[in-house]
Amino acid sequence: MSDIAFEKIYRDEDVDLGVLTGKTVAVIGYGSQGRAQSMNMRESGITVIVGAGDRKRHSSWDKALADGFSVFPIEEAVEKADIVHILLQDPAQPAVYYESIHANLRPGQTLSFAHGFAILYGAIKPPKDVDVILFVPNGPGPVTRQKFKDGSGIWGCVGVDQDVTGKAMDTALAISKAVGSTRVGVALMSFQHETEGDNYEEQVLYGGAIHLMRTMYAIMVENGYPRSFAYAKAIRSIRSIIDDIDAVGIEAYLTSRASRTCEFAVRHSGPRVINEQAMRDIFEETQRGAFAKNWLQEFSLGMPTLHRMRRTWADSDMERTGEIWREKFGK
Ligand SMILES: NC(=O)c1ccc[n+]([C@@H]2O[C@H](COP(=O)([O-])OP(=O)(O)OC[C@H]3O[C@@H](n4cnc5c(N)ncnc54)[C@H](OP(=O)(O)O)[C@@H]3O)[C@@H](O)[C@H]2O)c1
Repeated sequence: MSDIAFEKIYRDEDVDLGVLTGKTVAVIGYGSQGRAQSMNMRESGITVIVGAGDRKRHSSWDKALADGFSVFPIEEAVEKADIVHILLQDPAQPAVYYESIHANLRPGQTLSFAHGFAILYGAIKPPKDVDVILFVPNGPGPVTRQKFKDGSGIWGCVGVDQDVTGKAMDTALAISKAVGSTRVGVALMSFQHETEGDNYEEQVLYGGAIHLMRTMYAIMVENGYPRSFAYAKAIRSIRSIIDDIDAVGIEAYLTSRASRTCEFAVRHSGPRVINEQAMRDIFEETQRGAFAKNWLQEFSLGMPTLHRMRRTWADSDMERTGEIWREKFGK
């Protein structure tokens, strides 16, 4: 075992679920995280109600009802709750908060988030007399749900931005336990690190990996490779190595699982593919709030860039090849 110092990681035995006894958690929003976290918490013995937008416009109302939850208009759910757990999509949060949540909060209640974005950038300014906490499972809702059902959980983090009761951290940890994350491990995180770390991961790791796949596919097809082969190389092959790397570590993968040619290729050419300066620039832009500003502006304009890019990419050579590929060779 390495002797590198590690921050405190909370596990089931460190956390008392009792702080939620007799309390009601109102989950606001019943999408990817809302459904998973509501169901996990309910199965952990927590009283969960759901707050949803107008039933005619928001399908999550009927989804939550079908899953057996009591569903209320958001204002009413906030009134009934001790903990208001906001699981709305991030850019929609400020408008819903000021329309339906803010005026209904009582002193001593807890306002809880699954991403620090709205608080860090000041789009939501909670009253000074409520606790403000964060619990983030590091994975999509359906995976959070499936892991819980399998007896495991998703690694997560918790944070506190405002502690008026003196129990804010205990509440955040208890929620993380109820959702199943302390089965694996939960770290303490500031709102700033959680938000910027997440936005940095999305830009660099997801953005970089997806554009690497696309560029590799394009170069191979341009040079006369069969599309099916280029597609398999650019996408499917990453799946065959990523679980292995996660399970044993990069060095063990390279030296005992990969071929010697592969090991040489990785060490020789890999660094040239990465534009480290661009990664540092993106980090700096994220810390300065430039990414958040661009994203909020894009959202407020109705997401024109996203709609335009979606149209171009949905109809691209690679996506059309992918459809055939999955049909022929499975998912
Ligand atoms: N997904 C992930 O992988 C992940 C991981 C960690 C943390 N998080 C965080 O979890 C939070 C929720 O994200 P999510 O991915 O679960 O979002 P999502 O799947 O997009 O769900 C959003 C929910 O918000 C509701 N909603 C949106 N606009 C609304 C409005 N104007 N009025 C009322 N309800 C509205 C939607 O209801 P309708 O569908 O009925 O309109 C839906 O139930 C975010 O803070 C996100 O950063 C997400």
